[in-house]
Amino acid sequence: MSFGKTDTSRGVQSQALEPHTWLLCAEVTLVVAGIPAARVGRRRAKQLFCPPQDKEGDGVKELDNLKSDRLRTVQLNVCKSEEVDKVLEIIRSSLKDPEKGLWGLVNNAGISTFGEVEFTSMETYKEIAEVNLWGTVQVTKAFLPLIRRAKGRVVNISSVMGRMANTARSPYCITKFGVEAFSDCLRYEMHPLGVKVSVVEPGNFIAATSLYSLEHIRAIANKMWDELPEVVRKDYGKKYFDEAVVRMQTYCNSGSTDMSPVIKAVTHSLTSATPYTRYHPMDYYWWVRMQIMTHLPGAISDRIYIH
Ligand SMILES: NC(=O)c1ccc[n+]([C@@H]2O[C@H](COP(=O)([O-])OP(=O)(O)OC[C@H]3O[C@@H](n4cnc5c(N)ncnc54)[C@H](OP(=O)(O)O)[C@@H]3O)[C@@H](O)[C@H]2O)c1
Repeated sequence: MSFGKTDTSRGVQSQALEPHTWLLCAEVTLVVAGIPAARVGRRRAKQLFCPPQDKEGDGVKELDNLKSDRLRTVQLNVCKSEEVDKVLEIIRSSLKDPEKGLWGLVNNAGISTFGEVEFTSMETYKEIAEVNLWGTVQVTKAFLPLIRRAKGRVVNISSVMGRMANTARSPYCITKFGVEAFSDCLRYEMHPLGVKVSVVEPGNFIAATSLYSLEHIRAIANKMWDELPEVVRKDYGKKYFDEAVVRMQTYCNSGSTDMSPVIKAVTHSLTSATPYTRYHPMDYYWWVRMQIMTHLPGAISDRIYIH
């Protein structure tokens, strides 16, 4: 990590600081949408707002129990514009000088599901996009005026599935590809204004987070099977369906339980004078697969990984 380099062209707000001086910096305020990522900035930010979806949830209790006077939880469903506006106002009014703006926004909120295209209802596609894609766009647009004033940072949590698609993951892949495109457009537009936009593309850390649990997968599978059109149920058959569910359960159990590469990536994107455009916290298998799938012709990568 390149802590300690100072980008003088961007003024006090955008200096990359030694870790131990971070807390002394004036007005470094972050917003982390989606509680687990709160662990990222807690020790570095002067003020950290963590807008969870559920104010009564376990994640909020965990954060509140830290009893930090620099950390505040405020309720936010990223899909609800009135809640976004309310949180924006709470944050604006707690800034010492709103004209100096807000340093960082981390769009971490996300949900997922699984299932082949023919198993997935339109309602599910829309539900996942509502949070992962439109939630990211909505929150970013709301906070940009403050971020621009600080010449600060926007960090969007995408996924390896935002770079390469996979079977049985289309609802999620679509949204993460969308987050990638949105982040690129925003990065181009914000460059002349001094705002840096990064994307973090984690591999498989499911075992370390609450994105899925075995019960969650089972519940999704039961609902999906019950709601499948008769023709799909008949053509694919229960055996195929059950095997797909087992494959998903195996995938979820196989990920890394050490989230530190993701946390390091987000920390670097917020604190370095020269944050990367993309971060790839993932194991070698997924890194190599992503490179092959994004750089080699489809005929080759399909042959290696899909057929
Ligand atoms: N885990 C992985 O392997 C992995 C890999 C690649 C990318 N990612 C991405 O990493 C991010 C964090 O996921 P995670 O794995 O840490 O899962 P997680 O533990 O389930 O965290 C997701 C967070 O998003 C919040 N959230 C969901 N819907 C929301 C909404 N409508 N409004 C506000 N907050 C909402 C959840 O809040 P509630 O608990 O209150 O619902 C939860 O705090 C996601 O964007 C995910 O796509 C994860």
